[in-house]
Amino acid sequence: MRQPLLFDVRAFPKMCLGEESRRLEEKYASRMREELRLGNLVSYVGNRDVPLLRLYRYKEAFAFGFVEEWLDRLGAGPEDYVFDPFCGMGTTLLAASLRGISAVGVDRLPVAAFIAQTLPLFFQIRPGEILETFARLTQIAPRMQPARVAMDVAIMRVAFPEETLDYLRRWKAAIDTLEFPYREVFLLLFFSILEPCSYTSKDGQFLRLRRTKKTANPEEALAGRVLEAEKDLQRIRELGWKAPAGDSWTVVLGDTRYLDDVPFQRAPTVLITSPPYANRYDYTRTYSLELCFHFVRNFDELRSLRHSLLRSHIEARLAPTEVPPHPAVGEMVEILRARRQKLNNPKIPDMLTAYFVDMQQAIREWRRVLSPGARVALVVDNVRFEGYLLPVDLILSEIAEREGFRTEEIVVARYKGNSSQQMGRFGRVPVRESIVVWRKPV
Ligand SMILES: C[S@@+](CC[C@H](N)C(=O)[O-])C[C@H]1O[C@@H](n2cnc3c(N)ncnc32)[C@H](O)[C@@H]1O
Repeated sequence: MRQPLLFDVRAFPKMCLGEESRRLEEKYASRMREELRLGNLVSYVGNRDVPLLRLYRYKEAFAFGFVEEWLDRLGAGPEDYVFDPFCGMGTTLLAASLRGISAVGVDRLPVAAFIAQTLPLFFQIRPGEILETFARLTQIAPRMQPARVAMDVAIMRVAFPEETLDYLRRWKAAIDTLEFPYREVFLLLFFSILEPCSYTSKDGQFLRLRRTKKTANPEEALAGRVLEAEKDLQRIRELGWKAPAGDSWTVVLGDTRYLDDVPFQRAPTVLITSPPYANRYDYTRTYSLELCFHFVRNFDELRSLRHSLLRSHIEARLAPTEVPPHPAVGEMVEILRARRQKLNNPKIPDMLTAYFVDMQQAIREWRRVLSPGARVALVVDNVRFEGYLLPVDLILSEIAEREGFRTEEIVVARYKGNSSQQMGRFGRVPVRESIVVWRKPV
């Protein structure tokens, strides 16, 4: 007998759920169960003590322990080949690699792909070398010409105290003189101090400017990271972590909607991932400091990067021919368009349409490249607009079924509160964060 859900959304007043969403809740009720213990594992907070992953705070990451647990549940072993099509900082790749499983990841955000490519380089560095390199850099950094950064991006002009910005640019120039893999390792540490040294904070979907924030001293912040990195070099030895073998760890800066250029060794047998959530997430804003310091030369490049990511953000452009690819999305878009005047952002209906069009395309590609019998575990958040819940987990599952997957189960990992705006106007309704499990038929 299945346990009843703590929060069965079907029990909420009618206004909370459109007809189509209600149909989905009925359809999947028997395959849905709660495992709220997993709630702690779906967020990056679980990585605070994990060597290497703790060095860079990628807020959208899931925890290392989450991937370990799902590799177990999916019965993955060295004969498998793992794919993370939204690999972020490479959490999935690290967990797979430490079990001797080859893995490949794709991410469209250059800073994410860079971190994921850099983590395995730490295995090539001997304890003491990071500290020695830091001491040398301390000598040359003050004499360097400040590195070029994308100063035409508005946030760069207000994000840092003036002296801090000058210091950081000189350090960036000094780090650029290093050789592989020291340059990569130091860039990672350098990116990790940009937020603490700035007036910004990575809150929710954006980068917020908080002029009253106390900013860190860059030299102290970098020295602190260097020490942490040195400790991690020790710890990975104590833990017996082995360097990834040969081409067993591959990261591609690419778009998961089009996988033709990914050098798969063979058809992946396991897919573990978490897509951007359908709620105004704009990674090019959250990570704009890192991008402006290294990955884009100017605002035009930043903007074109924004438009090349999955359309989970409010600036998503919708082609006139694009329509909601699922009736539950269509229903929500109609409700929201009818209330356009009241919406705090009138672009939300376009964003939702574009998001599901993109996810459908991504799921189609995964279906194409995965091996028969492959299993998928995808972590996703539902969303709520104007008081209406949108069951993203179930919509994606039905889209996946149309594309040829079978939905095995939907595991609820946690319930999240709503934005204070939503709660004020419509009351508190818990919103699921789930892991959906699909299988490609043999
Ligand atoms: C929720 S995060 C995944 C984080 C990852 N699980 C980790 O542990 O670091 C979603 C990722 O999707 C990436 N992304 C957005 N659009 C993409 C696209 N079209 N193709 C591939 N990755 C994309 C974002 O850059 C972000 O890193």
